[in-house]
Amino acid sequence: MTNVGITGLGFMGMIHYLAYERTRGAKVKAICETQPDRLAGDWRSIKGNFGPQGKRMDLEGVARYAQFDDLLADPKIDVVDICLPPDAHADAAIAALKAGKHVFCEKPIAMKPADAERMVKTARKRGKLLMIGHVLPFFAAYRFAYQTIKSQKYGKLLGAHFKRVISDPVWMTHYWNADKSGGPMVDLNIHDTHFVRLVCGMPKAVQTVGRMRGEVVELFHTQFLFADPQLMVTVTGGTINQQGRPFTNGYEIYLEQATLLFDSHAAMPVTVLTNDGRINRPKLGAGDPVDDFATETKEVIRAVTAGKPSPLLDGELARDALVLAYKQTESCRRGRSMKV
Ligand SMILES: NC(=O)c1ccc[n+]([C@@H]2O[C@H](COP(=O)([O-])OP(=O)(O)OC[C@H]3O[C@@H](n4cnc5c(N)ncnc54)[C@H](O)[C@@H]3O)[C@@H](O)[C@H]2O)c1
Repeated sequence: MTNVGITGLGFMGMIHYLAYERTRGAKVKAICETQPDRLAGDWRSIKGNFGPQGKRMDLEGVARYAQFDDLLADPKIDVVDICLPPDAHADAAIAALKAGKHVFCEKPIAMKPADAERMVKTARKRGKLLMIGHVLPFFAAYRFAYQTIKSQKYGKLLGAHFKRVISDPVWMTHYWNADKSGGPMVDLNIHDTHFVRLVCGMPKAVQTVGRMRGEVVELFHTQFLFADPQLMVTVTGGTINQQGRPFTNGYEIYLEQATLLFDSHAAMPVTVLTNDGRINRPKLGAGDPVDDFATETKEVIRAVTAGKPSPLLDGELARDALVLAYKQTESCRRGRSMKV
């Protein structure tokens, strides 16, 4: 059994807790939270944009800590799961790694690439796993895309376009603060940046055109440039302040013998258009978000049990995604392409 201690019992802490309940071989043995009601198991005040409503929880058998150091000192805990606000990730992860724990931390890995690098180096030095919760490859539509690209079933990847555009998340107080959240590029579109890094490798340059809001990018198009000049990969992302707009995401992925399509907004389920004129709609399950997160926590436990980094959750990939997000922002600000 792998024992987990979650710190930060807000929206993601709750989703992770529920995901571990569906993860064989894992048990949440402790939580750490500064808000007394949440620590006591009253999760009704927790708010997010998907998944179930928070409710009163029976936390019998779960140690409760108001101080992070007490969680780190708990010898029963194997994995510290960090669901704190982004600007607290680096210090918490480094302290946990130094305390001899494996770390699973929510995205983005950190607020600054230098902090991400420190986290990666500490994990390496301490011989512990650093995993970052980039959940996109665990969502059915993206899992299908990832597996289809990797399998080369339809030949090699020629290019792709990813999209993730939302209306302003007005409930997120620090969203536009470059040091606390980083706006859409670091908070939201890092999911697509990470996916691009995962399936295409590290680009050699980025070119972003977009609108800034203060220090952070508001709405943008990015072209990722690779050593292979024929690999064309673009992302459209950000926010547009029209509150009627739902969360929209999707992709068009061009392979030698098929195109993969998905668009949450236009109600386009995952669709495969093949060279011989066929249109296939693979069955991908019910789409319960807690199940998707449980696929992710199962991968955390698999990696810890095997004692080997996860190819999907590895901290170095997440660090690269953050580096790219900063290059994209710099490119947008300066109006020119940036070498990576
Ligand atoms: N993967 C996804 O789809 C996804 C979705 C939403 C958020 N996130 C990420 O998850 C992380 C957390 O976001 P959230 O929406 O859950 O935030 P949240 O504000 O809902 O929860 C954060 C919790 O941490 C607690 N906290 C703050 N400082 C603390 C401390 N020092 N010790 C203990 N507890 C402390 C707060 O009281 C709060 O309960 C962020 O990095 C965010 O980017 C990921």
